[in-house]
Amino acid sequence: MYPLRSLLILFFSFSAAQAFAQSEWETPNEQVTGEELYVACTFCHGLEAQGNDRRDGPALAGLQAWYIEKQIYNFRNGLRAYSEEDIPGKIMHGSTPMIRDEFTIKSISEYIAGLEPGLPMARNAVGDRPFVWDSPYAGLDESIVGDAAAGASTYNGICMICHGAEGSGNEALGAGSLKYLSGMYMERQLMYFRDGIRGAHPEDVTGQQMAAMAKTLTTDQAIADVVAYILEL
Ligand code: HEC
Ligand code: HEC
Repeated sequence: MYPLRSLLILFFSFSAAQAFAQSEWETPNEQVTGEELYVACTFCHGLEAQGNDRRDGPALAGLQAWYIEKQIYNFRNGLRAYSEEDIPGKIMHGSTPMIRDEFTIKSISEYIAGLEPGLPMARNAVGDRPFVWDSPYAGLDESIVGDAAAGASTYNGICMICHGAEGSGNEALGAGSLKYLSGMYMERQLMYFRDGIRGAHPEDVTGQQMAAMAKTLTTDQAIADVVAYILEL
């Protein structure tokens, strides 16, 4: 069902994670800095954590440490990427062993949160085709063009309550910053939340709250509109 290339990437990320974990395991966690550990993330998230659309890796710079930490646990524990449809999520799930344990999850999250946000996405392939996998979740139909003005009323009426007027998030509500995420990544996450591919795990309380909100976006056009507005924040 999935193209061979996706499977190869999955396999690669899993074996890279294993190799990394084994070679570095001798060093006590306290002696490994977040910066050193981040090197293992650059392949998919970019050297500066600015994201890499070609690898489906979102920008991490600009996210808060508490949010990054929570999502690493969610990927590790299967609260996120529990669906076979979620190919990028499965790839990220396979990358979690190399982040080791509580101590290093905290230090890598703090390191990433200190990086400068908003740099242009990394691109390491020729051409513009961003996806290496085939699925309805690889992107919205190309004919759909977001209308930021239409998205503004949705955002200010619904999303702002948790993500803030500027899109910078709210820790108490578990809502992360949306400011530096790419349109492609946000559209995918909104489709995921809408269709139960993210935020439907019974233990993921805040994810369930977001999923309920995504279900108010009843058409793909509504998703494109609200994302077009968020990109202007
Ligand atoms: C083999 C590629 C790959 C590697 C290596 C990788 N990631 Fe990811 N990561 C992804 C993909 C793809 C996603 C997006 C998943 C999705 O779309 O749901 C992601 C998502 C994330 C997210 C969620 C971001 C958000 O906005 O919710 C965090 C946090 C994250 N990765 C941290 C890391 C860290 C830290 C490392 C290094 C230890 C790492 N990743 C290594 C591919 C990778
Ligand atoms: C009730 C609070 C709440 C409202 C309202 C809300 N969200 Fe969220 N949103 C969240 C939470 C909590 C998360 C993180 C879920 C998780 O932990 O996986 C989230 C996650 C997201 C993400 C994924 C971010 C990432 O880094 O992966 C996007 C995109 C998003 N929301 C967009 C929206 C949009 C667009 C709206 C309005 C239609 C909206 N949200 C309304 C709480 C909310």
